[in-house]
Amino acid sequence: MTADVVVIGGGVMGSACAWVLAEAGRSVVVLEKSIPGAEASSAAAGILGAGAEAHGPGPLAELLGAGLPRHAAWARRLGRQTGIDVEFREGGVLRVAETAASLRALAKETAWMEGTGRKRRVLSAAEVRKLEPALAKSPGGVFFPEDARIDPKKFFRAVHVAAERAGARFESGAYVKEILTENDRAVGVAVESGTVYRGKTVVLAAGSWSTLVPGAKLPEDAVIPARGQVVELELPRPVLSRVVAGPRCYLVPRDDGRILVGATVEFVGYRREVTARGIRDLLDAAVTLVPALGDATFGASWSSFRPYTADELPLLGRSAVPGLLLATGHYRNGILLAPITAEIIRAIVLGKSPPLPVDPYAAKRLETAENRAPLRARRNRD
Ligand code: GLY
Repeated sequence: MTADVVVIGGGVMGSACAWVLAEAGRSVVVLEKSIPGAEASSAAAGILGAGAEAHGPGPLAELLGAGLPRHAAWARRLGRQTGIDVEFREGGVLRVAETAASLRALAKETAWMEGTGRKRRVLSAAEVRKLEPALAKSPGGVFFPEDARIDPKKFFRAVHVAAERAGARFESGAYVKEILTENDRAVGVAVESGTVYRGKTVVLAAGSWSTLVPGAKLPEDAVIPARGQVVELELPRPVLSRVVAGPRCYLVPRDDGRILVGATVEFVGYRREVTARGIRDLLDAAVTLVPALGDATFGASWSSFRPYTADELPLLGRSAVPGLLLATGHYRNGILLAPITAEIIRAIVLGKSPPLPVDPYAAKRLETAENRAPLRARRNRD
């Protein structure tokens, strides 16, 4: 079995890479241990929070900022090519404060955006209520008008359909045994069934499972799972027009009146549970934020694993193994970053310049054990 590019992982990242590479005329095979899209891609809430998730200037903000405009373009192209409306909706993200002190802290945290061309507005209590009348009284908030939302399940389906139509092949149940090398260069992938997929380039897009792939030569704790539990509530009609984030949960509306309440952040390995405490805390936070949600009906709940890195930056581009490219570790922003990641990987495979400098996302930084200590712990020590 031979292809130009062998992708490990059939989630949104691997599928997005497969789509753009197949469109560029490369033969692509995607190896997925389960079924495509079974993991974090389908569990995500769909916040496209380039402003709300940036938390300060730097490489994450740069990447998120480059990612957002690509979604608008991808949504249009995916709609044309597949007929699927991925529910890309502009309208912004509103971060609501609980106290006057936390409003001041929020305003201070986001002040760096002034003068950068990124939009953010500090809103009074009345302005918050005007924007989202269903919200409980609050001292105010910060609004990121350029942020957006999307339906990750529809987005994944559209990317997957588009990739297959462009000629990419997906192999389900393909459990990777190892990345094969010759003269220290990646030359393909062997799967448990015994099949070998040879390729000029191997792309590792295995999310929370990335460091477990033999031959990837990544420290085991370079990417670890951060469980997120999510609750879906149903209301007869929409009560929110945009994504709202409070201090203890965020709410992501869907067009049909459903609201996703997310999400816990838990370091519990690969335990795919939905817990009483997790759901209680999310529901309590949600009803506090929007009292009308007390009358919503319980739709569903689930959990999945964000691929967390200690500095909360993804692993992108070339790795320690020539021929092996990384497209993993996107932590909280995999959906937002799928298009820009795919475009970076395409540029590298085609020998072109990536759309932005990728050095800050290189795996090398996580070779040092100190750098693999979580950023927050490192900051606390300073
Ligand atoms: N993007 C939000 C989350 O990871 O929960």
